[in-house]
Amino acid sequence: MARPLNVALIGQKFMGRAHSNAYAQVGHFFDVPLQPVRHTIAARNAEELAAFAERWGWQHHTTNWQDIAANDAIELVDVATPNHLHAEASIAMLAAGKHVLCEKPLAHTLEAARTMRDAAAAAQGKTFVWFNYRRCPAVALAYQLVRDGLLGEIHHVRGHYLQSWGGAQTPMSWRFKKSIAGSGAHGDLNAHIVDMARFLTGDEVAEVSGAIAKTFVTERSLPDGSGTEECDVDDACLFLTKFAGGAVGSFEASRVAPGHENRNTLELNGSKGSLKFDFEDMNVLSVFDGGDAPATRGWKRVMCTSGEHHPYAGQWWPDAHVLGYEHGFVNMLADVLVALDGGQPVVPLPDFDDAYQTQRVLEAALISATRGAAVPLDEVE
Ligand SMILES: NC(=O)c1ccc[n+]([C@@H]2O[C@H](COP(=O)([O-])OP(=O)(O)OC[C@H]3O[C@@H](n4cnc5c(N)ncnc54)[C@H](O)[C@@H]3O)[C@@H](O)[C@H]2O)c1
Repeated sequence: MARPLNVALIGQKFMGRAHSNAYAQVGHFFDVPLQPVRHTIAARNAEELAAFAERWGWQHHTTNWQDIAANDAIELVDVATPNHLHAEASIAMLAAGKHVLCEKPLAHTLEAARTMRDAAAAAQGKTFVWFNYRRCPAVALAYQLVRDGLLGEIHHVRGHYLQSWGGAQTPMSWRFKKSIAGSGAHGDLNAHIVDMARFLTGDEVAEVSGAIAKTFVTERSLPDGSGTEECDVDDACLFLTKFAGGAVGSFEASRVAPGHENRNTLELNGSKGSLKFDFEDMNVLSVFDGGDAPATRGWKRVMCTSGEHHPYAGQWWPDAHVLGYEHGFVNMLADVLVALDGGQPVVPLPDFDDAYQTQRVLEAALISATRGAAVPLDEVE
């Protein structure tokens, strides 16, 4: 019988729903050692909050997230707010002795991210960051194939994460404000592909160059129609990398790429083979094995839905009964619960220190874009 674990969640919109669903579902599909109890939900909108709590089975709700720190019954706190609150809320919860599971990017600035890393290092509680794409079965399989040596020496890493919702018709929100978000498409989308690149290769970025951060829509209408406000974050951001192990990389993020709704891709090319992942076809991993017979060598389209052979797939449906966006969150939560109980996750979980390393790469790209020059990572601490 799994021990109950009281959880509090801060944030009740997009990620609030994705995470609430994970807490509700995880015990149905995984034999978890701890059973999350939806104890308290916190967010700003008091009217929506009560209905949200009822719909998603949260026992208590509050518009004051600080209440959570003072409540000894709560062991795990999930921070799913806009980026500028990640540091303040996470550090308060760590100081109160709780485990913290925070959304990405780790913070809105490198400085805030550093304070989170340092607080985590000094705390008793464990930390985790919602880099959920690591736990799509195709990405977790790619992790295993790289370690099995399928690629040989990795030469070339190519990531792009393209969306289309950020055109001029989209009204102002926190996502377009530097003081809250930190950056635009960059921190939102490049954060995921930089994490995936570091996770899959096991290598670290040593230098960033050639970065371009561009704001196409410089002013947006306010949602209440009362006027317009300036946008001070990038709509698209591109950069190149050298990895410590010798590989080269390219990364692109955009919110203004019509036709690409959530095209989160990562490709690895090595001395023996290549792998490609594209979230818009998330159940598939494209595999090129240079060791195949020359006459029939080519890209294989591997459906990562076999319960017997593919990470996480066995917890869900019969083979080829495909998974979706929400399953990555449930898979990750299952691993978090195993880790909190002292066990090993299926593939490694990112903690605050790990996410801080990703944040350093993001910061180096912003510096490179401003300076127009290459930025060694050891300059960005
Ligand atoms: N892992 C992913 O794939 C993924 C996807 C989307 C967003 N995110 C991240 O999740 C976080 C939240 O994004 P979202 O899309 O859910 O945003 P959102 O705007 O949909 O929701 C933000 C929530 O935070 C709450 N909030 C804001 N200020 C607060 C305060 N002072 N006190 C308490 N609650 C407060 C709001 O009430 C709202 O419920 C961001 O860091 C974002 O980068 C991650």
